[in-house]
Amino acid sequence: MSAQTKRPRPRFAILASGHGSNAEVLMDAFADGSICATLGLILSNRPEARVLSKAAERGYLSELVPSHGPGSFADRSAHETAILNRLQAHRIEHLLLAGYQRLLSPHFLRQFSGHILNIHPSLLPEFPGLYAVERQFAAKVPVCGATVHLVDEGIDTGPVLLQGAIARNGQEDGVKGLRQRIKREVEHVIYPRAVRLLLQTLLEQPVDAGSL
Ligand code: GRF
Repeated sequence: MSAQTKRPRPRFAILASGHGSNAEVLMDAFADGSICATLGLILSNRPEARVLSKAAERGYLSELVPSHGPGSFADRSAHETAILNRLQAHRIEHLLLAGYQRLLSPHFLRQFSGHILNIHPSLLPEFPGLYAVERQFAAKVPVCGATVHLVDEGIDTGPVLLQGAIARNGQEDGVKGLRQRIKREVEHVIYPRAVRLLLQTLLEQPVDAGSL
């Protein structure tokens, strides 16, 4: 393929509200080329979110669109409009939610229909919604995991792209320990893989299992 006919690299943004360990793994995968696309923006709704400094440390463009406190917007709709404007300004085509703690409205979702991935810390459809790890811990489920899915208008109901599981070993240090295992052993492995799967689907290339 000549340089002139080469397909432009797909442009992604990460939306995250907190610690940003998934965002960190994704940023590194974009940086080392194992996700073959451009990460154009890391956006957070919380000024204290660690993900903002993690992005800056790696030289990624990061922006804050606050949902609360100084500089925030009159209502949810105004906040979403501000986010949509930033995404448009950076020509973002695909969104990766990584601990983004805000529900997205149907209007917002329509702008990126089929192009938003989320990661959830359970084997969906089991344990959708809030406190998924706490509820799995309390229920003593023997097998836990995480799911990357496309986002639709429901709570963690969109089509599943990839899942990974771990067996509880009884050694986890409470809910915190279980959360760490799910993140380290499952989420941080499957999220970059799911993005590669999405890219292969978007580019209509045959999926080569070896490359995932
Ligand atoms: C993860 O457990 C993810 O499944 C959920 O939010 C958490 C974000 O963690 N959606 P981190 O900020 O990526 O460490």
